[in-house]
Amino acid sequence: MSHDSLIELLDLDAEVLHDYVHDLVGWVGREAAERPRVVDLGAGSGTASLALARQLPGATVTAVDQSPEMLAHLRARADAAGLTARIRTVDADLDRPWPDLGPVEVIFAAASMHHLADPAAAVASAFRALRPGGLLVIAELESFPRFLTGTPDEELESRGHAEAAKRRHEAGMHMHEPWGHRMEQVGFTAVTERHFDIDLRPPLSAAAIRYAQVCLGRMRHGLQERLSPRELAALDELVESLPGRSDLSVRTERTVWLGRRAVHPTG
Ligand SMILES: C[S@@+](CC[C@H](N)C(=O)[O-])C[C@H]1O[C@@H](n2cnc3c(N)ncnc32)[C@H](O)[C@@H]1O
Repeated sequence: MSHDSLIELLDLDAEVLHDYVHDLVGWVGREAAERPRVVDLGAGSGTASLALARQLPGATVTAVDQSPEMLAHLRARADAAGLTARIRTVDADLDRPWPDLGPVEVIFAAASMHHLADPAAAVASAFRALRPGGLLVIAELESFPRFLTGTPDEELESRGHAEAAKRRHEAGMHMHEPWGHRMEQVGFTAVTERHFDIDLRPPLSAAAIRYAQVCLGRMRHGLQERLSPRELAALDELVESLPGRSDLSVRTERTVWLGRRAVHPTG
């Protein structure tokens, strides 16, 4: 699957799910130290890095990712937004020992922890990287975005999602990890869990319709060997029809865990 379509999808996340990202970063800002040094883990195209730098006064952000293409795109977005001085990038594979990230008050990981090979080790690395009093924020997808309503389209979309979930599971992704429990296990305190239900009703903006096309197009691409030729053809037709439709909505759920490395550890 092309990197370009993932970059486009992540950029569209920033636009279409703007209110969710804004609420989430606002929450982090209320909990974090002043002028925090933030690490955005698995930063991708930079949605969170840019939002964190914009919304948290005086924050500096280190965006870490293993994809040089993502990081180049992120730097270009930071330049365009006038945020170059406050966002730096680090090219690193987080499945290997983490690079020295310097003193860090906030580690933010959106839709990235599930990619890492060993979730418990990743949470422990985050704990060690944080200064006492620092925050770890893990935001994960409870459900991938859905756009269609009514039969047979909604059934076809659900069938695609079910196969895509099996594919992710077989690829070793950790989609529904007990992140809060993992955080408590390594010593994070005051772990709070929040659910965000996103439900954008029709008529959708042009960006949201494009979002539907890119999401479903990417899903279809990964299911070549898993759906029947008839289902694949129906999915192709569906994806093609999206730009002309006025009945699409965006429904997705995110769960976010926020925990603190205590200043004075207990026990
Ligand atoms: C689904 S994207 C999420 C990007 C971004 N956090 C967002 O919410 O828009 C996951 C990102 O994690 C990165 N990633 C996956 N495995 C990684 C690893 N082992 N080390 C560093 N980055 C990784 C990918 O390159 C990708 O940019």
